[in-house]
Amino acid sequence: MDNFKNPFRPGAGHLPPYLAGRQIQLDDFKQNILTQEPILKNLIISGLRGVGKTVLLDTLKPLALKEGWIVAGTDLSESASVSEANFSTRLLTDLASAVSNIVLSTQEITSIGFQGKTERVEHHLNYEILNYIYKSTHGLESDKLKAVIKFIWEVCQKHAKGIILAYDEAQNLKDTKEDKQYPLSLLLEITQHAQKNGLPVLLILTGLPTLLTNLVEARTYSERMFHQTILNRLSPEDSREAIVRPIADQNCPVKLTTEAVDQIIEHSGGYPYFIQYICKETYDALIQQQAMGVPLSDIRIRIDEIIRKLDIDFYQARWNRATDKQRNLLNVIAQLDNAEAEFSMKDIEVAMKSSGSKVSASAINVMLKALTEAGLLYKTRHGFYSFAVPMLSHFVKREMGE
Ligand SMILES: Nc1ncnc2c1ncn2[C@@H]1O[C@H](COP(=O)(O)OP(=O)(O)OP(=O)(O)O)[C@@H](O)[C@H]1O
Ligand SMILES: [Mg+2]
Repeated sequence: MDNFKNPFRPGAGHLPPYLAGRQIQLDDFKQNILTQEPILKNLIISGLRGVGKTVLLDTLKPLALKEGWIVAGTDLSESASVSEANFSTRLLTDLASAVSNIVLSTQEITSIGFQGKTERVEHHLNYEILNYIYKSTHGLESDKLKAVIKFIWEVCQKHAKGIILAYDEAQNLKDTKEDKQYPLSLLLEITQHAQKNGLPVLLILTGLPTLLTNLVEARTYSERMFHQTILNRLSPEDSREAIVRPIADQNCPVKLTTEAVDQIIEHSGGYPYFIQYICKETYDALIQQQAMGVPLSDIRIRIDEIIRKLDIDFYQARWNRATDKQRNLLNVIAQLDNAEAEFSMKDIEVAMKSSGSKVSASAINVMLKALTEAGLLYKTRHGFYSFAVPMLSHFVKREMGE
């Protein structure tokens, strides 16, 4: 085991040792999204926490770069995106760093002296130039950004296939009527404007399942602007690949038994983050026990201990934010047969009543709203909800059971 390095990578946006079960999405991107002329459909990648949205987006970017696209964008988890002006600065910064290698003009400078040396100086597109265009364009924020994008395309069209604007955690980009700030509408408007005028600007947004709802609320036409890919848990076959391939690729002298792999698949529910987490813990424990001189035949790894650690690392912070009443409500939901799918207000009311609770429907409603804001639930449609965190019902049962 001396040379063996644990290949598993639980984390936010950490590229996994083997990207399992995403070939359909990769092919679809290459064959149907990048080849559009003109661009009619943009891409949404949505899914629950830890399902692999960031990793997929980070895998799509180099594919696009290879095909000659300019790729600009960032992670929107910071609240910098709340106002239109902030979002414009964000976009200008992202565009500037994506086009900074593009030469705007070259200049021959001959230095004074007996040798008369001539130097070629290249002027690259940069933030100052983009900001100058932005500032010197009259009109609304959207007019200014449209002018910037038009300018970039005029300069870049000889070298590039198009411009991709790729934003992760895009559910954070929301219009707020109270503050009269419409950054999401702004992004949709400039994209649609470019596309209508034949400019190959492609928008890729990734985020939690509430993303499409936000988009439709901002602009009703956005439903038609996007092709939505919902990332789901991995199938048992793909989960198996995600577990066994990295072990084989690392030439690990200790392989997992079929039963152990089956156990990991079952406990992870096929969710990529959980697969990486359980596998990382398993091999860490193995390496540690070996280092302590435990013979291989005596090494025991307890899945329940790993799950307890996972509970603390993944769920506990969210759980701690819930009040006792909210926890009781979550427990009632967790007992529903459809807890891991979609459940209705009605389901919850009935279950609450039969559990002997006297909480009124309006109080339930208030709690559901608070739990949604805390990121534990999300509204799927009118009167219906889902857990926003994978396998939350299992955690709640473990927690309340204890
Ligand atoms: N297809 C996959 N196969 C194997 N492991 C994966 C796959 N996709 C993601 N992972 C692993 O799962 C973990 C979570 O991935 P990622 O951060 O991309 O999820 P996410 O959906 O962006 O989560 P969040 O909503 O919290 O941002 C990472 O450790 C990553 O390496
Ligand atoms: Mg992510």
